Amino acid sequence: MCGIIGVVASAEFKRERRLGTLIKQALKHLEYRGYDSVGFAIITYDGRLVVRKSRGMIDAVSVKLGFDELDGYIGIGHTRWATHGPPSDSNAHPHIDCRGRVAVVHNGIIENYMELKNYLMERGHSFSSETDSEVIPHLIEEFKKLGASPYDAFKAAVSVLKGAYALAAIDLDSPDRIFFARSTSPLVVGIGSSENYVASDIPAFLEYTRNVVVLRDGEVGYITSDEVHVEKLICGRAGHSEVSSELQVVLNALEAVPVDLRNRVREIDWTPEMAMRGGYPHFMLKEIHEQPQAVSSTLAGVASEVRQVAEHLKGVERVIVVGAGTSYHASYIGALLLSNVAGVWSIPIISSEMRWYLRSLGEGDAVIAVSQSGETIDTLLAVREAKKLGVLTVSLSNVVDSAIPRESDLVIYTRAGPEIGVAATKTFTTQVVALAYLAAELARVKGFMNSGEFTKYVAELRRLPEIIAGVIAQYEAKARRIAKNMVNKKSAFYLGRGYGLPISMEGALKLKEIAYIHAEAYPAGESKHGPIALVEEDFPVIFTALSDEEYGLIKSNIEEMRARYAWVIAVVPKINNVVGEVLKLASECIPLPPLNPAVAPAAYIIPHQLIAYYTAVFKGHDPDKPRNLAKTVTVY
Ligand code: G6P
Repeated sequence: MCGIIGVVASAEFKRERRLGTLIKQALKHLEYRGYDSVGFAIITYDGRLVVRKSRGMIDAVSVKLGFDELDGYIGIGHTRWATHGPPSDSNAHPHIDCRGRVAVVHNGIIENYMELKNYLMERGHSFSSETDSEVIPHLIEEFKKLGASPYDAFKAAVSVLKGAYALAAIDLDSPDRIFFARSTSPLVVGIGSSENYVASDIPAFLEYTRNVVVLRDGEVGYITSDEVHVEKLICGRAGHSEVSSELQVVLNALEAVPVDLRNRVREIDWTPEMAMRGGYPHFMLKEIHEQPQAVSSTLAGVASEVRQVAEHLKGVERVIVVGAGTSYHASYIGALLLSNVAGVWSIPIISSEMRWYLRSLGEGDAVIAVSQSGETIDTLLAVREAKKLGVLTVSLSNVVDSAIPRESDLVIYTRAGPEIGVAATKTFTTQVVALAYLAAELARVKGFMNSGEFTKYVAELRRLPEIIAGVIAQYEAKARRIAKNMVNKKSAFYLGRGYGLPISMEGALKLKEIAYIHAEAYPAGESKHGPIALVEEDFPVIFTALSDEEYGLIKSNIEEMRARYAWVIAVVPKINNVVGEVLKLASECIPLPPLNPAVAPAAYIIPHQLIAYYTAVFKGHDPDKPRNLAKTVTVY
């Protein structure tokens, strides 16, 4: 998925930190987006373009290539998650043109790169990587040969690209600016006091400024040390131009209108500390511990957004809740909440599967898109397609002004603060809490809940921060103990019913993605229809029930697993008879405060997060950077 950063000061400006160090540290904040290779390009104070890049992770590459020794006043950097071409020194970004005057970093996929590459090779360009991105500096070079200014050449190059991209480019022929462009992949400008920034995400420059402009699709522009210039490229929307046209024709047709940024600059309320580890060994553990605060900020902030959305959902008959990864599990809980609390027909759908359901949707239906980043391409496309059909679109996101909220009719923001660990934790709990609030508000406006019931429900939601803090304090040591035994396992089942099912799905995903243990979640009732064939002595089976009703339904499944000598762990409500039985049936019992099951998911996921975290750590893996994964997935 890749992370990009660009920073520009004036040539006279000398900062305390060398530019190489600044870019390295910015890239570390973007490492969650990819970490198989890293590189940067700097224009030095004596006017040279220096490019250093290599396969490997930032700290190691930085030492190997001496990032900290390099200084200059303008530079770009990149951390890569390979799409086209495996991780290697030559496939690492930045990529340069034939003359070594233009350097480009790219996040996304250029779909027509083969066509462009062949075209450029016919004109004598030589390529040194297998990436799609390398066509961009060569295109810029080619347009400059036709007499275009560096900025026009950049815009013309952008106008022939098809696909998804966030780009930053520097050019020795225009050495005071960084050019940028965005189509689908995220890109944010940071406005500093003596320098400006452009990056894939805000934490990259949060240490220096909180004033940001979130760029929109089709926007191009440049930053200098004291100017931010943005234009909307008219023919530049991906796919409008054809490479088969003569380049001169493309250049002549280039049209862009300036964008007024006066109402677009936002001061965000994240602090630099939020994007730092703050004494914890990993961001994931810090973010697990931040959940009480994240839930409390979300509950404090969402009331009016939730009320507005509930008013619009009042007359809607069917609601589809879409999301990917962990956000899909929150969507699953959302659909259960809407059905069970608000009496609205609702189902969860994985974003990338949404197209198969769209054909039966139309006016009178609603889609709720859940995405912490607000950028996941499959979820964005689900919203776009639904909107075309007249479906009401609502998004639930953690990033203000990101693509999915911007394209939705209505939005609810979680207030979890930046989440850096690739495995989502605090954004999940804030999503389920916001959805629980929405379900209650909808039930209230529809007359499904009277005001006394609503008040009681909301009061229980407001107790969650304290309850979550208590669960962490009480069960962290036990999670470590369970994790010690989990490290030797090859596979695990997570079983539950009702709300216990999406919690099981999320628990299994956590174990799989960071501890690399094959884990599957099933509706507990389905376990007899296949999965149980795998169960033998000491096979881990983790049950979750959020209420005595759910427990009553999984009890026989626990018995079945015990009869096969499975290693049974049960997360259940602390109700006397339930705990009494579980202590006899299961190897490990984790009794949690009994709650309204609609409110409980945010608390009942905690032991699963902790077990997965400590299993990963005991196995020697870095839970913040699981292999092959990226936090924001902007490719389909
Ligand atoms: C990736 C991340 C997951 C995340 C999913 C959806 O797979 O690794 O942690 O849940 O994307 O991301 P979103 O930003 O849409 O919630």
